[in-house]
Amino acid sequence: MGQSGKTVRNVSIVGVGAYLPERVLTNAELEKMVDTTNEWIVTRTGIKERHIAADNEATSDIGAKAALRALENAGVSAEQVDMIICATISKDMVFPNTACFIQNLIGAKNASCFDLEAACSGFLFGLETARNYIASGTVNTVLVIGAEKLSSITDWQDRGTCVLFGDGAGAVVLQHKDSGRGIIDTVMKSDGSLADLLCIPGGGSRQPTSVQTIDQRLHYMKMSGNQVFKHAVRYMSDAGTELLGRNGLTIKDIACVIPHQANMRIVQAIAEKLGTTLEEKFYINLDKVGNVSGASVPLALDEAIKCGRVKKGDLLMFVVFGGGFTWGATILEL
Ligand code: ACO
Repeated sequence: MGQSGKTVRNVSIVGVGAYLPERVLTNAELEKMVDTTNEWIVTRTGIKERHIAADNEATSDIGAKAALRALENAGVSAEQVDMIICATISKDMVFPNTACFIQNLIGAKNASCFDLEAACSGFLFGLETARNYIASGTVNTVLVIGAEKLSSITDWQDRGTCVLFGDGAGAVVLQHKDSGRGIIDTVMKSDGSLADLLCIPGGGSRQPTSVQTIDQRLHYMKMSGNQVFKHAVRYMSDAGTELLGRNGLTIKDIACVIPHQANMRIVQAIAEKLGTTLEEKFYINLDKVGNVSGASVPLALDEAIKCGRVKKGDLLMFVVFGGGFTWGATILEL
């Protein structure tokens, strides 16, 4: 075993795929649903539209489509997949896990499957989990999927949250590769004392579903937006700074930062704290997809590759923050 945080076998992203549901919900439509305006949403969040899954589309359906595209991109068959990790807060059911449903949809019959719940940090936490399994030689091929149908856990009567979220999925295939450095280093952190600031209070063992929890709308996401905002800026920029520092890098060495995207003002503040600008170093698609929690980073990565913003051999940094609180950063060579 190498030093803490260092791989034994290099682990690389060998395929990327994404899927966005067809239906687009615009700010103009939201103006008719709650007391809000396009101007407020755009100036306070930067979001212009988001995709919303169809009634008959569950999180696993969205995730499976992204997974199949990632496998095709990697040139890897579903049977070759040893493990599926699905990062999600909008599971198909309380159990079984969403990764099992995805396994069945894509025919990955040799995979062990589990979900990883770290809210908007879930994909990065999943990536690091997969890296460790492959680095140690336990498995060879892992699918990490960020998939969300946040529209199913959004309170469409709450203007403070319903304008923020969207549905979508992104997936990566990870394998050991001799060439290239792959995933170089990761910081993962949590602070459970702040859990109440961003959560779904009802429907779990603390407050099982009842007529009261439903009347009080406790089965929907609740967020203290302002508090979350401040912590998101501080923790994401701190994680990025720590990771760059301990790898002897500066932001100038990074070709592109792909952050979890919850709010344009948050990512702008992070860029400033990292000593750069959004235009110079960041890839942003928040305006078109909203906050898609665990799907945010892989969706943006897929787009960034497709439009040529990032290419093989580039040094990338992911920075994330979500409920829990959970946060972290990863540096990798694509
Ligand atoms: N339209 C119009 N007015 C609104 C809306 C809306 N959609 N939403 C809130 N307002 C009002 C509020 O009621 C308040 O009015 P008041 O001053 O009369 O009370 C005013 O706008 C300002 O509200 P704030 O909450 O202070 O607005 P803020 O500038 O903080 O923006 C927002 C709110 C967009 C939610 C922001 O705080 C934010 O992005 N927070 C972070 C979200 C985030 O990072 N989430 C991370 C992870 S998500 C996950 O893990 C699932």
